[in-house]
Amino acid sequence: MGILDVKFVQGFLRMANDGWEQGWHERNGGNLSYRIKPEEVEEVKEYLSEDQTWEPIGTCVPELANEYFMVTGSGKYFRNVMLDPEDSVCIIKLDASGEKYQVQWGLSGGGRPTSELPSHLMNHEVKKQTTDGRYRVIYHAHTTNVIALTFVLPLSDEVFTRELWEMATECPVVFPDGIGVVPWMVPGGRDIAIATSELMKKYDVAVWAHHGIFAAGEDFDLTFGLAHTVEKSAEILVKTLSMTSAKRQTIEPENFRNLAVDFKVTLPEKFLYEKTDGGL
Ligand code: 13P
Ligand code: ZN
Repeated sequence: MGILDVKFVQGFLRMANDGWEQGWHERNGGNLSYRIKPEEVEEVKEYLSEDQTWEPIGTCVPELANEYFMVTGSGKYFRNVMLDPEDSVCIIKLDASGEKYQVQWGLSGGGRPTSELPSHLMNHEVKKQTTDGRYRVIYHAHTTNVIALTFVLPLSDEVFTRELWEMATECPVVFPDGIGVVPWMVPGGRDIAIATSELMKKYDVAVWAHHGIFAAGEDFDLTFGLAHTVEKSAEILVKTLSMTSAKRQTIEPENFRNLAVDFKVTLPEKFLYEKTDGGL
């Protein structure tokens, strides 16, 4: 048995490949990270090395000090993750200050963790705190239909949440807290990481205008399922808007309130505003 047979590694590789098969990862687009459990670190310990240099993360995440993560590599293709995992992904450890990382496994052909490491780690830090450590997965994907909508819808949390909720009855049950929207920003740095992690205090999904989404969750199934649900709903909205600018009928605020009771979810009223124009 090798490191690639370990269950969390298998789950990571499968999720990356699932994203590739959905068409969300052209070239090196998108990135994935997993906060490894202490008992899982023990399972892979024999494969880790402390030889490489400590590098700056580009931000500070003290709540994640000394934690281990599996992360996709910068410039690596999701298309290759299953075929060549050792080169495409890595395991990193953070230092005691939460300011540096060390690659301890992977990236066999060289390279570094994703350029979105600041966003991934700041999101992990927020989610670790707000979920009592339950959330372990952060996923960035170039979801085609969500991106298309960022050229058409107002870039507001309320409009994106409500429009996507309306497109599939299960949506408000899958993401009852709603979704947030980050206006266009330069990717790969601390500023977009701060903006995204602010939204992650309230939501499990943050849309990056004209770029993609970030999704957060407890495990690989829930996080992939969340991104998949949001993107599917966006696809239905794109199709609907392609046919008409005004919906003839839809799920109304009162319907959502009834759904919330039966499915035992709390749907914030700010997303259930009355529309006056009959369309969006
Ligand atoms: P990386 O190849 O550095 O992960 O970047 C891909 C990406 O999607 C940037 O937003
Ligand atoms: Zn991206």
